[in-house]
Amino acid sequence: MQEIKFFNGENIPLELHKVRVVQKLHLVPIERRLEALHEGGFNTFKLKTKDVFLDMLTDSGTNAMSDNQMAAMMQADDAYAGSQSFERLQKAVEDVLGKKYYLPVHQGRAAENILSVAYVKNGSLVPMNYHFTTAMAHITTNGGKIAELLYDEAYVINSDHPFKGNMNIEKLEEIIKLHEPKNVPFIRMEASTNLIGGQPFSVKNLRDVRALADKYGIRLVLDASLLGENAYLVMKREEEFKNSTMAEIIKTMTDLADIVYFSARKLSSSRGGGICTNNVEVYKELEAYIPLYEGFLTYGGISSREIEAMTVGLYETLDETMISQSPSFIKYLVDSLDKKGVPVIKPAGVLGAHIDAMQICAHIPQSEYPAGALAAALYLISGIRGMERGSVSNQRDEYGNETYADMELVRLAVPRRVFTLSQIKYVEDRVHWLYQNRHLIGGLRFVYEPPVLRFFMGGLEPVNDWTHQLIAKFKEDFGESL
Ligand code: F0G
Repeated sequence: MQEIKFFNGENIPLELHKVRVVQKLHLVPIERRLEALHEGGFNTFKLKTKDVFLDMLTDSGTNAMSDNQMAAMMQADDAYAGSQSFERLQKAVEDVLGKKYYLPVHQGRAAENILSVAYVKNGSLVPMNYHFTTAMAHITTNGGKIAELLYDEAYVINSDHPFKGNMNIEKLEEIIKLHEPKNVPFIRMEASTNLIGGQPFSVKNLRDVRALADKYGIRLVLDASLLGENAYLVMKREEEFKNSTMAEIIKTMTDLADIVYFSARKLSSSRGGGICTNNVEVYKELEAYIPLYEGFLTYGGISSREIEAMTVGLYETLDETMISQSPSFIKYLVDSLDKKGVPVIKPAGVLGAHIDAMQICAHIPQSEYPAGALAAALYLISGIRGMERGSVSNQRDEYGNETYADMELVRLAVPRRVFTLSQIKYVEDRVHWLYQNRHLIGGLRFVYEPPVLRFFMGGLEPVNDWTHQLIAKFKEDFGESL
């Protein structure tokens, strides 16, 4: 494990890369930020980057690419069928993920669509450690239901449990028996469980899930979108693997799954995705859907240049120096916020820092979307764009009732090798200020609510004039500062 100590005793993450291409950012005045919020329906998805200073919406497709990825893009072999770029990618999938058969898709949710169309039907139940929005939407759209089976520890915000993403093995067996194995098309394990704060599962837990999958003859599907980070935390936190390489840990995990799918927008710092397996039957069952939904089997809707970037990105996932950069910045941010008393998910996970709107905005009822309100307020006072991961991101039940989220979080994504430490310090400073002034944040209500995945394009408005009070306090404390 690489660790760089400072003579002065300070404990800060050191960048082990240099910046060679930069993009100018815009920190617009607070009055413009208020206008932008109104234009975007108080939904950070609908802000435009010209109004955003630090874009912490997601790491999806926003990780910095390496020089080698950019160079590889130049040798892309554009061919509708049989391209050499695809052959290189196939080899990378086999080398890194250990799967012989690879089906390309344009992004992660396309894999979820295909797996759901192929295997989920009315009456199906898919047990999982926790849902991801798009995975759940595809399963329910195809008539299935999901069961989320985390241990109680996963929902504890201030915890030191190393593997909050673990599947509850006892509950898993119970639910398989209750619904009968024939109604369980697959078990889904999500690496670095996104919606509970980027929390990993242990290899031991995955082995236990595998044993139940074998016992009941059910396929095990691994969502590997954040597999690199999960593997890195296994190396840091699971005794058995402390001397293993990233390559060994990743292979150990993918070997345990029948089907591995991923969003390359995350896994390999590119764009694209895939489904892979060593089971030729599975491959044949899914093959026909690729030309139907995605594109020919040797590009699957991904541009050849991105295929080349994906290939190099997959190999770079094995580089601990690269993969540890985002988690170490996240840890720095989480620990600093925690010291200032800001409620934040602990231990620090991957993808981003997750601040707890349920506590910060305890005065806002879930029916007025505390996490949505906090995300909007943070943008207003800082130009930082985070993402609501609470009840706005939940879908209504089959009768149209709200289903309030277990957690009301604002996720501040830290894409790989994108931000500098002074930018992270700015985030810490503004979140801290907002926490001190949290009583000024008010609720939101929907004015436009799409029926599916409403958080993407939904429009909201503040329930009263709280934005003006927040701006007044900002001016009082910061004067003319942006
Ligand atoms: N699975 C996980 C665990 C994800 O985090 C995502 C996307 C997907 C599947 C879907 O992949 O976007 O390529 O279609 N997560 C993004 C995020 C959107 O912001 O966390 P996709």
